[in-house]
Amino acid sequence: MAFPDDQKDRVKKIDDYLMRSLGIIENKTLKTAMAHYPAAGGKRLRPLLATMASEAVGGKYDAAIPFGVALEIVHNFTLVHDDVMDEDDTRRGIKTVHSTFGIPEAILAGDALFARAFEVVLDSEVDDTDLVRLVDILARSVRLLAEGQQLDMDFERAKRISPSDYMKMVEYKTAVLYSAAARGGAIVGGGTDVQEEALAEYGRLIGLGFQIWDDVLDLRSDKETFGKPVLNDIRNGKKTLIVVQALEDLKGPERAEFLSVLGKKGATPGELMKARDILESVGAVDHVTKVADELVKEAKKALKVVKNPANKKALSEFADYMVRRTS
Ligand code: IPE
Ligand code: IPE
Ligand code: MG
Ligand code: MG
Ligand code: MG
Repeated sequence: MAFPDDQKDRVKKIDDYLMRSLGIIENKTLKTAMAHYPAAGGKRLRPLLATMASEAVGGKYDAAIPFGVALEIVHNFTLVHDDVMDEDDTRRGIKTVHSTFGIPEAILAGDALFARAFEVVLDSEVDDTDLVRLVDILARSVRLLAEGQQLDMDFERAKRISPSDYMKMVEYKTAVLYSAAARGGAIVGGGTDVQEEALAEYGRLIGLGFQIWDDVLDLRSDKETFGKPVLNDIRNGKKTLIVVQALEDLKGPERAEFLSVLGKKGATPGELMKARDILESVGAVDHVTKVADELVKEAKKALKVVKNPANKKALSEFADYMVRRTS
């Protein structure tokens, strides 16, 4: 049985810990808004990675649950605010936090989730030196994530974005959390410095692939399967690697037509679909899937520090899933 079907028990443990962590909130509205996404599901990829990294260095998987759940809480906080920024109305198959409770409530729910993550990470059963490191990793990740989210918005308005600009943005907004999950798991599991660095690099590379694939799903999936709106990256003028590549290749009337829709807030479904077809026909979507595959291949090379074949296989399948998932 391959990932994610082989991880159902672990997801259940993570879910229980996560929901219990949100139980202490007194105010009903705040609590409901905070639990809105956690209760709606989600793949729990970051906590799963933390537990797998702990095992991969010879530790127990459940030792990484507090750190993994702290990351999941941070992730959910960023989703709440991201949906405000991206003006999206659906996530995990339900209405977004701000479209359900309002923008002020979404800001506050995000703030409280952010703070709660730092309380939860303190439940990790590690010595004080490692605990300080876990807290530092969490804080640094959120700071860098904000840098990435700001670049994501800056690029909406920018004319020329290069592939390396895109990679920097995605490294910060997405890959940092995956890298943190793998590094934190390795710390909790008692890994060596070499194992920790290699797993952090593995997490970074699969995180880059994960975001590229997320951008592909925005074009190729549908709202029911994906659980989020599709084609909104085009409407919002997001400079995905697909768009960056297409803008290098498109010429003439197709280029003009594509540019007339990119970032057009009032674009019709027909216009968005036409823009998507242009991205497909110029080969930009196929191109980036190859880039994502290469990143995953590179990531797997870092797994040579993992000695146990079963743990190595699990992380290898997890890496493949990043760029094959349908939701
Ligand atoms: C969505 O992350 C946000 C991105 C970084 C693209 P996930 O795809 O992991 O979302 P959930 O947690 O499963 O809903
Ligand atoms: C994900 O970017 C980055 C964060 C949420 C930090 P997206 O804007 O592509 O994520 P989705 O598609 O809304 O999940
Ligand atoms: Mg978004
Ligand atoms: Mg976004
Ligand atoms: Mg997206």
